[in-house]
Parts: sequence; structure tokens; C-alpha cells
Amino acid sequence: MNEHLQAAKAEPLFNPLSPDFIRNPYPFYERLRTLDPMHQTPLGPYVASRHAEASLVLRDKRFGKDYEDRTVRRYGPKIMEEPVFRSMGHWMLQQDPPDHMRLRGLVVKAFTARRVEDMRPRIQQIVDETLDRIIPQGRMDLIEDFAFRLPVTIICDMLGIPEEHRERFYTNARADGRLLDPVPLSPAEIKAANEGNLAAQGYFQELFELRRRNPGDDLTTQLVQAEEDGSKLTNEELTANIILLFGAGHETTVNLIGNGILALYRNPDQLALLRAKPDLMTNAIEEFLRYDSSVQMTGRTALEDIEDLGGKRIPKGESVLCLLGSANHDPAVYPDRPARLDITRPNVKPLSFGGGIHFCLGAQLARIEAEIAIATLLRRLPNLRLDNVENPEWRPTFVLRGLKSLPASW
Ligand code: HEM
Repeated sequence: MNEHLQAAKAEPLFNPLSPDFIRNPYPFYERLRTLDPMHQTPLGPYVASRHAEASLVLRDKRFGKDYEDRTVRRYGPKIMEEPVFRSMGHWMLQQDPPDHMRLRGLVVKAFTARRVEDMRPRIQQIVDETLDRIIPQGRMDLIEDFAFRLPVTIICDMLGIPEEHRERFYTNARADGRLLDPVPLSPAEIKAANEGNLAAQGYFQELFELRRRNPGDDLTTQLVQAEEDGSKLTNEELTANIILLFGAGHETTVNLIGNGILALYRNPDQLALLRAKPDLMTNAIEEFLRYDSSVQMTGRTALEDIEDLGGKRIPKGESVLCLLGSANHDPAVYPDRPARLDITRPNVKPLSFGGGIHFCLGAQLARIEAEIAIATLLRRLPNLRLDNVENPEWRPTFVLRGLKSLPASW
């Protein structure tokens, strides 16, 4: 064992909210994969850091979400009285079959490859309008002013949120990132999350009324009609899944764009290559997803005793945290210097969108948004400079990995 790993042994192996981890989780993942690839944390859950186990757990029917049981284990029985946890329990993301398919089936058509391809001109228009407004200013915050606007506008379009309601989402939509982290929320964080959730519920009930009176060609109208039909979904499920779609639709994509641009500026050879050969963009997006994923983890619960997973026995009811960001850097799958950004890397198949029945609904949409956003930015701002490439400010969340801000000028 080398000295670096030996010294690191004194530290907790998995401490995902520590400032060093947030700044750069990848050396910590390497330690986990080397020292204890199916590490059991003091709180109980196991941490799968290798690609083999993380990817298997996502696809294996012996694992499921078991949301309520998992949440009660973590927080105690009273947690299900908290509105935000009750609401999350209705997300399709937290459901097991058959409810999962019932809910996913109601929206899946809006995300087919064909439907998403048809959105290209609208995506290009939003990016161009954003840059038209910003370019004369000479500087911007790449996150707030650029990366954030596109996915929020697109998900507002898809949900049929009227233009005049949107301004509130451009400023105030990013408060609840901690909810997905495996480290329990403090009472103050739960209170804030409840308040955010109640405000969102209030707004969306208003939108449902509007779309009942005034149907449109959008996902909200579709789901409101399914609810009126009676047997397809309840009002609580309707509200919760609209909130999920709204959050999942932008929280993740803003960070794919932000983390991707930062990765390019930290690797000037790759930036120069992409500027010279814009055709590499499709592969570059896969490499950005692999290199610094905007979703770092998801979890499953063992629905039965698992005798052997990577050498460990997982008792029924215990959770496995699948470290997608670590799996994406596993040398068993990426033998050629996985810690290096290489936009020409062959066979990049990041685990960033998950796998199995919960595979990300918005994967193709996110790829196209990022492709158009980054390509247009590089083309229209050939002199773009980032103020702080070395030590930018990260958001203090683990599962959703992204920058708080990224000041830039030209
Ligand atoms: C870079 C961008 C994105 C990343 C990295 C990402 C990642 C993920 C991951 C890892 C999962 C699976 C979680 C699990 O297995 O437990 C997931 C599910 C999901 N994603 Fe995404 N996502 C992205 C963008 C989007 C977008 C743009 C939308 C919608 C407009 C979206 C909607 C969803 C939904 C609804 C689910 C739940 C699917 C289900 O449970 O069947 N995502 N996403």
C-alpha cells in the first residue's frame, strides 16, 4: 500500500460533506476503491465505489427503493410526518414496481429521442437570446447568468409554466439540493426544505387550476387530465412528480454545463482541441459526464439478504450507495488514465444517468442542452476567460455536484 493511502487510513473513508471532499471527491473515491470497495459506513449503508458493484445494484431486482423504510431507518418514524419527506415518497424516482411504471409511463412519451431532437431549435434560440443579452456586458457569472437559464426555461416550457410566472424560478429554484444527500439533514435544513416544498406545492396547485381551465400541449395538462381520470394518479402524486420533473429538469443539467466548461478550462489542450474540432462535441459531452458527473450517487435497498456483493454480505433492509462518480473513474473500465479529461476517449459510457428501471428520463434532453450551450458559448465567445479556474466555489452538496458561481469575462 502506498504512503498516501496509508496516511489516509486515519481519516473516515467516506465523509462526503467535508470541504476537501466537496472540492475534489476523486482522490477519496480512489482510496475507497483501493482500501474497501464495499465499505460499510458508521451509519449503516454500504458504499459501492467500483463500477462492477455500483452498476449491478442499479439493475438487480433484489434491490429496490423501499423509500419509507430507508427514510425511517435514517431519521426515525416521525420523519414521515414532515411534508417534504412525504412528498418525496410519491416521486417516481422513489417508487418500486408496479407504481414506478404507472407513474413513469404517464410522462415517458415527452422524453423520446424524437421529441427531444425536435427541441433543438428552441434550445438554440434560448442560448442565443441569453448570449445576445450578456455579451455586451463583458462579464458574467457562467452559472447564474448562462448555464442556469437554459434548463430552467426548457423545463418551464415542457411543464407549460406561463412566461409571466417564470422570473421567480430564475432566482430562487436552487434551495433543496441537500435533500438527496446520504448525510441526514439538520432540523433547520428540514424546516427550510418543508418551506420550499410547501411554496412549490402552492404554486403548482395554482398551475393545475390554470391548466384545468385552459389546457395546453404540455406535461402539466397531460398529468392533470390523468388525475381527473381517477385511477391513474392521485393529487399528491401529481404534485410531487411535477416538483420532481421541475427539479430534475434543471438542477442536474446546469451542473453538466458548468462542470463541463470548468473541466475544459482546467485542461487547455482539450479546450483548444474542441475549438479546433467542434465535431468532437458529442463525445466530449459523454466525457464531461464521466469526468465530473453532476449526479455523484444514487442508492438502493436490499429487498432480501444478499450473500455476496463484492465480498460483503448485505442484510435485507440495508442500503447500498452507488457512487456513480467513482464508478466513472474506475480503472477496471477506463484503463487509460481515468483521472484525465480526454474528449477523444473511446467507448465512454458513464454511469451518470443511472441504470435499470430508473434510468434517467431526461438523459437525451440533458445531452442536447449541454451540447448546444457549450458549442454556442465557445463559438460566440472565442476570448472567454474564467476568473478562477483553480479554486472555484462549489455548492456544499454531495449528490448534486456543481459550482455556486463561475465568474467569466471576455
Ligand atoms: C446531466 C443531467 C442529468 C443527470 C446527470 C441525471 C441523472 C439521473 C440519475 C442518476 C437518475 C437515476 C437515479 C436512480 O437510479 O435512483 C435520474 C433519474 C431521473 N431523471 Fe435525470 N439526470 C439529468 C437530467 C435530467 C433531466 C433534464 C430531466 C427531466 C427533464 C431528468 C429527469 C429524471 C427523472 C424524472 C428521473 C426518475 C426516473 C425514474 O425514476 O424512472 N433528469 N437522473
